[in-house]
Amino acid sequence: MKLFLDSANLEEIREVAGWGVLDGVTTNPSLCSKESVSFEENIRKICALTPGPVSAECVSLRADEIVLEARSLARIAANIAVKIPVGLEGLKATKALHAEGIAVNMTLIFSTGQALLAAKAGARFVSPFIGRLDDIAEDGMALIEEIVQVFENYRFETEVIVASVRHPRHVIDAALLGADIATVPYGVMTKLVRHPLTDIGVERFLADWRKVKT
Ligand code: G3P
Repeated sequence: MKLFLDSANLEEIREVAGWGVLDGVTTNPSLCSKESVSFEENIRKICALTPGPVSAECVSLRADEIVLEARSLARIAANIAVKIPVGLEGLKATKALHAEGIAVNMTLIFSTGQALLAAKAGARFVSPFIGRLDDIAEDGMALIEEIVQVFENYRFETEVIVASVRHPRHVIDAALLGADIATVPYGVMTKLVRHPLTDIGVERFLADWRKVKT
C-alpha cells in the first residue's frame, strides 16, 4: 500500500519524506490557502521533495479551460498529477488529458458510479472522500470496498486514493480492503507511528539497561 501525505506544508512533507515512508503528496485549494508562499512556487518545491506523484488541483469549470489549466500545472514538474473534480466537464477534460499522457486524479468522489466513470475516462487515480461521508452518517469505507471490487472485476489500472482520512483506523481499514493508496494528514500519520505500550516498553527497557553490568 502506498502512503501519500495530504498536505501542502513543506515542513510536514520534508519530515515525513525523512521517515522513508512517503510515496506521494495530495494538495487541494483549502490546504494551499494555509501556506504563505505562492501556489506555483510551493507546488514546485513539494514536487522536488516528493519521490512520487504530487496532486495539484484545477479550479476551472469548463472542459476546455480545465485542459489548459492542467497542461500548465503539468509543466511545473514531471511528477504532477492534476486533480480534477468529477463531473461531466471534468470527465471530458480527463479523456483529453489522458490522451496527452497527463496523469489525472479525479477528486470529490462520493459514489461508485462516479469512480467507474472516472476510470473509464482514463483517470490515473480516483479520490473518494471517506471522512466527509462518515460526517453525514454514511459509510465511507463501504464506498472504498465497492470501488476496489469494481476496479478488480474489470482490471482497471486506475488507483484508489482513500482521501478525507480522519484517524489511523481509516488507514488500516483501507489497507485491509486492498486500496492502493491512503492520503493521510500529518496529524494522523504521527498517530499511526505511536503506541503507548511502545513508549512504556522503551522506558522500561532503558530503566533495566541502567542495571545491566557493562
Ligand atoms: O485531499 C482532500 C481530502 O483529503 C480532504 O479531506 O478532511 O477536508 O475532508 P477533508
